[in-house]
Amino acid sequence: MIQLKSREDAVWLGSRSLCGIIGFTGNGDALGIVLRGLKRLEYRGYDSAGVALLAGERIWVAKRAGSVDELIRTVGELNAPRTGVGIGHTRWATHGGVSDRNAHPHLSCHGEVAVVHNGIIENYEALRSELESRGHTFTSDTDTEVIAHLLEEELSKHGSDPKEALTRVVTTLKGSFAFIAIGSALGSRILAARHGPPLVVGYRRDACIPSSDVLSFLELTDDAIFLENESCVVIGPGNVEAWLVSGERLELKPVKVAIEVADIEKRGYVHHTLKEIHDQRATLLRSLTAELGPIDEIAKAIRSAKKVFLVAAGTSYHACLIAKYVFAEIAGIDTTPVLASEYSLHSRWVDNSSVVLAVSQSGETADVLDAVRDAKSRGASIIGIVNMPGSSLERFSDLHLNVSAGPEIGVAATKSFTSQVATLLRVALRLSGSPIPFDPQRVAEAVEEVLELEQSIAEIARELRDFKDLYVIGRGIHYPLALEGALKVKELAYVHAEGLAAGELKHGTLALIEKGTPVVVLNPHDETYHDTLSNCMEVKARGARVIGISDEHHRSYDYFIRLPRMGSKYATVLLEALPLQLLAYYLALERGAEIDRPKNLAKSVTVK
Ligand code: M6R
Repeated sequence: MIQLKSREDAVWLGSRSLCGIIGFTGNGDALGIVLRGLKRLEYRGYDSAGVALLAGERIWVAKRAGSVDELIRTVGELNAPRTGVGIGHTRWATHGGVSDRNAHPHLSCHGEVAVVHNGIIENYEALRSELESRGHTFTSDTDTEVIAHLLEEELSKHGSDPKEALTRVVTTLKGSFAFIAIGSALGSRILAARHGPPLVVGYRRDACIPSSDVLSFLELTDDAIFLENESCVVIGPGNVEAWLVSGERLELKPVKVAIEVADIEKRGYVHHTLKEIHDQRATLLRSLTAELGPIDEIAKAIRSAKKVFLVAAGTSYHACLIAKYVFAEIAGIDTTPVLASEYSLHSRWVDNSSVVLAVSQSGETADVLDAVRDAKSRGASIIGIVNMPGSSLERFSDLHLNVSAGPEIGVAATKSFTSQVATLLRVALRLSGSPIPFDPQRVAEAVEEVLELEQSIAEIARELRDFKDLYVIGRGIHYPLALEGALKVKELAYVHAEGLAAGELKHGTLALIEKGTPVVVLNPHDETYHDTLSNCMEVKARGARVIGISDEHHRSYDYFIRLPRMGSKYATVLLEALPLQLLAYYLALERGAEIDRPKNLAKSVTVK
């Protein structure tokens, strides 16, 4: 733990970060508000945390490696000042070790400015050399620290005009950043800038709360000002002024955020992840029945496009892979799923006759945003399929749909995945002009039936807890679900897991199957059933321990998780992820893994 009262004490190692940032200025206890906000932002990064408070002429800082709870405990032992101005940070490191010294906030030479930052300052080495040649002393290798020094320098020149000082600093920086700063000469004014990563201001007449995310201030206000990319901002209690570096003043309008505080609580569940798995009773029904905004315009754009790309990362990409089957089978439309981080290969085919459907829970994933920016510059229409209202992707898209899963706090995507699949299914159905081929209410009941299997899935997890490798196989539309199931097991339980197209086993991976190897076989009774069963027999013959997930039992299964009979392949697909999520959750529980915040991961991956 480091408690800094002056800049001279500070020596820490460099880092770049994803992270969550928050500030408070106004009528209230800044420390309590910032710490509570950091708890809500912890899903964005959780390897270190810190706060800075304006105490008269001085800035008080407390920061440490570890969780926000650890920071809270430590701050409780200190004599923190009571003040209405403060900032805070929770970190996900990409460079440099996790240590007290790497934690934000970072201070300028004389401790007059404190900064929290999300993103990367690409030209920080050059800036640092210049600053050092002008006499600034650096005590860390962080890119963030240059912001503090630059602000201190510019504020000393333009102290009476912080807008000018901020504009000059932002013009100097290259890279992707959102930062929030307080200064001893700024009083209750907070400076902030957004150039890439998200920044939103919670608005009240007597206070403002700039933050990475609305979830951090919902308890205080549901009025939010989403800042445009490239905004510079001066924030006071109840007032916000924003402009571009060109000097153009930006119109700001608070909007109501339609998220209830109750939606972000655990509501009696041990983990957010478990609660979110259970939420699917309601979320799937909502995603299947909610008003879908501009779905007709979207269908029209897709129909008239020469090429349709589905761009996403991680779990959202798996939803896109399922959508490829759904669009082809239901609407006769060919689509190209693209991993956002591999988009550059595909960009040459993107032009003004293309539609890019970008799928993202957070709407903030850097790789996805980079891809859509490029696609838009080539003339493509961008359709965002998002879960977080007001996200960067939503705002950047020409048209967007919200998948209606509600806030998802657990780092592992669960309910957002099934809602993405449901929403993409509805788009495909609108394209074909057909109604939903099953009763959405029946799906909600079937979710309940799968959730009733929770204890037997927990028992299977107990028996599998010590295995080092696990395989998940599926064919056709069940193949992306195999990928998704394996991803859940990896990130939640820290067990090596591989999702495979069932037919691919014999082309290599079968060599790894030996006595007792757990293989999850996704095999609902549809056109893929018999072929997948043959693949199941192949692993069985090599001694595999088979966990069958199907609506039909087979003697080859050592464990059987029964899916309800739905009479529609697409309804079954919506249910299939649930037992996989529960299996991964209980494996993680058995193995003592950190479930809501798996190690090394963050929910919103806002750097490349
Ligand atoms: O917010 P996004 O849907 O764009 O996030 C994409 C991935 O980072 C995300 O799905 C990640 O793979 C999850 N941790 C998986 O559970």
